Amino acid sequence: MKKVSIDQAVEILRAGDLVCLPTETVYGLAADGFNLLAIEKIFEAKGRPKENPLILHVDSLEMVERLVSRIPKKAHDLMKAFWPGPLTLVLDKSDIVPKEVTAGLSTVCVRMPKQPDTLAVINKLGSPIAAPSANRSGRPSPTNLEDLEKEMPDIAVLDGGQTELGLESTVVDARGDQVEILRLGGLPIEEIEKVLGQKVRVIGRDNTEIEIKSPGQMFKHYSPNGEVILIWPWESFGEKYAQANQARYTSVEEAYADLYDRFKCGIVASSEREKLYLGYEFLALGIDAKEQAKNLFQTLHRTESLGWEKVIVDMTGIDTNQALAEAVMERLKRAGS
Ligand code: TXA
Ligand code: MG
Repeated sequence: MKKVSIDQAVEILRAGDLVCLPTETVYGLAADGFNLLAIEKIFEAKGRPKENPLILHVDSLEMVERLVSRIPKKAHDLMKAFWPGPLTLVLDKSDIVPKEVTAGLSTVCVRMPKQPDTLAVINKLGSPIAAPSANRSGRPSPTNLEDLEKEMPDIAVLDGGQTELGLESTVVDARGDQVEILRLGGLPIEEIEKVLGQKVRVIGRDNTEIEIKSPGQMFKHYSPNGEVILIWPWESFGEKYAQANQARYTSVEEAYADLYDRFKCGIVASSEREKLYLGYEFLALGIDAKEQAKNLFQTLHRTESLGWEKVIVDMTGIDTNQALAEAVMERLKRAGS
């Protein structure tokens, strides 16, 4: 991949081409948000369904004001508390936002990223930047240059090293009385609730309303080449949980015994489980949810370089009450479905 400077990245965007930009969450595949041909290139490069809308990245409140018809108080409070940062807000769009960006919806997603070089690119361009995660559609998002290279080998990159959080932004609809989370992500729900002084509702927790509210969640997601098989061990989760998640096996050993002769297998689990699996191929996700969030996507990418055909994930140690744990679990469930 060709590495470019901030000014070169701006030039590329002005010319209507794509460039990969670092953010604090994951790498984005960026285009000038007002350039329809460039937007089309995003969908092509990712193989992304046209029905899946894009986030516009801004550098200021003034820029948001041009893109939306109004900013409700709660949305404003969240912007003040968390921008720049991993918060994406759904707002009613203004007329100047192209329908190609929003997949024809009357709303637009906006976010102000925290990565300083990327903020500088938006600032110099003077326009919002449309940027989905820089993976090909359906695959794990890239959080470092090596993984990005696998996804977008032909596109130039502004090098930002490894991304800080490792999970995409939290998508929030704060237009109504009941604030809704459309995608769990790098900003913990608990922090949002603290600022708002109210509980939020997570769309899709009980498989409700995903189709209507969060188009992106309908598509295949986060899957590496190997098949991801989630194990909900009996001792931690019990039968009911395993059934609810349509588990094929009740323990890692059972999965291994069934698959090992026929496939190249490996185990992914919380770091503290490593001692249980000596002698197996093993990748540690980290100890706490924050570490697991940061490592999740690069671990899924790593299973590919190791050639694993079956990625057996021990979910014990991921189902905790820590902030971000639900987001990690949600990504894994989708990778495994
Ligand atoms: O952290 C992030 O958000 C990264 C970095 C690059 O900023 N971007 C990212 O974009 O994750 P993408 O396209 O991979 O995910 C955007 C999500 C999708 O699930 C999409 O369906 C949803 O946001 N989305 C976009 N516009 C929407 C809208 N108007 N209403 C509801 N959901 C929307
Ligand atoms: Mg994505």
